[in-house]
Amino acid sequence: MVAGRRAHGRRRLLPFLLAAFLLPLPATAGDDGLDIAIGKALFERPWVPAPSSTRANDGLGPLFDARSCSACHPGAGQGATAINQAGRPEGLGLVLGLFREDGGPDPVYGHRLETMTLPGVPAEGAIGVTVMNGRRIPHADELGYGPLDAATQVTLRVAPDLRGRGRLELVDDAAILALEDPDDRNGDGVRGRARRLETPEGGSRIGRFGWKASHADLAGQTSEAFSLDLGLSTPRRLEPWGDCTPAQTACRNAPHGRDAEGEPEITEAIVSRIDAYLRSLKAPASEPDRRGAKLFAATGCAACHHPSLPTRDGGHLALFTDVLLHDMGTGLADPAGVPGAGAAEWRTAPLAGLSRSLARGLGLLHDGRATNVAEAVGWHGGEASGARMRFDALDDRQRRILIDYVSSL
Ligand code: HEC
Ligand code: HEC
Repeated sequence: MVAGRRAHGRRRLLPFLLAAFLLPLPATAGDDGLDIAIGKALFERPWVPAPSSTRANDGLGPLFDARSCSACHPGAGQGATAINQAGRPEGLGLVLGLFREDGGPDPVYGHRLETMTLPGVPAEGAIGVTVMNGRRIPHADELGYGPLDAATQVTLRVAPDLRGRGRLELVDDAAILALEDPDDRNGDGVRGRARRLETPEGGSRIGRFGWKASHADLAGQTSEAFSLDLGLSTPRRLEPWGDCTPAQTACRNAPHGRDAEGEPEITEAIVSRIDAYLRSLKAPASEPDRRGAKLFAATGCAACHHPSLPTRDGGHLALFTDVLLHDMGTGLADPAGVPGAGAAEWRTAPLAGLSRSLARGLGLLHDGRATNVAEAVGWHGGEASGARMRFDALDDRQRRILIDYVSSL
């Protein structure tokens, strides 16, 4: 009954959604049902290259690595992580980030190795991954514009589950700062510090999004995805060619969807609806398991994977993260750090939703190297060494209870 009614409701909504693409939307979205439904449709929408007869705000590429948000975050869940025999990612969901220690891009390839291109624009290359002792060593292969700069580092990143993550915007700074312990005052070996991102006005904001907490708000993360992954401009990132550098002339000269007045291809109205959709997604809930939860705390997992955070609207967000950066040791480190986040520092990965990723056979950790919870814990070093040692010291029965608990989140 209910399902039937819902399907019917959706059918009735469709003409509205299509109309919404063609009509100008008010700039900012409320978090009401229609804005959320439009946001979902935009999240799933495959963008097309400019010039497009259908609408003004297309302009995919010229370099890109997916056509839609949901290509990498299917159903707003985690993206594909498998590496095939040839050392290539299977499906979308792994990206190759390019960076220098000063935080800057590769002078020719930019911040990302885009794996797709439009006709007439040389491709950048392919992501290669060599697996050695369970570790994933990423490299840029089949490079179309010569070698990477000698100072350029590469990092492999998984497209994470987004369910509940958008609600991190509803957590006050104070709630995150209260969990910091940079001097390890309580002597548990776990420090944790909020990532402070400098703003153009000279202040700072707390990083919440991304594996290294490199974005303070959803709009920042969404605008980056439009620019680096889809090659589309937004009010925050006006370059219509996305991540193409001046050295990539064919890309810079290709047609794009930015109109004569300089309006970005993707308007504020679109960004804010996608973000309203992401904020509307609840964190996946699991069956209560008191024994498991107790062991999770006693083993020290909860010191970082905080079961819940208070939200501004008086609720709570059960993501299992403290949103803080922790030094996780050399086993998980990038080849270098960036300003504001060391090579081995990562934001505590939210664990809510893990059961779906595991059921789909997806890899865990920032580069997807771990196939299950025990393997993921095995890579925990640095500030998490104590928790890993307590985990190893559990008897088989207790370890099973803890693993089952985490795997069911
Ligand atoms: C090519 C694959 C790809 C596409 C396309 C993509 N993403 Fe992502 N997304 C990622 C990866 C990889 C990360 C992790 C980035 C990092 O931290 O380095 C990420 C992270 C995120 C996060 C942060 C989640 C968290 O836990 O903090 C949000 C939100 C997000 N993406 C939204 C979007 C939206 C909205 C779009 C479409 C405009 C989009 N993504 C398109 C790969 C993708
Ligand atoms: C010092 C903080 C800290 C402690 C303690 C800690 N973790 Fe983590 N955990 C992290 C961070 C940070 C990551 C992300 C690391 C990465 O991807 O490189 C992570 C990642 C994970 C992941 C992978 C999640 C995903 O989506 O890929 C699992 C599973 C996990 N931890 C389980 C545990 C368990 C179980 C314990 C207790 C035995 C534990 N952790 C203790 C900080 C911690």
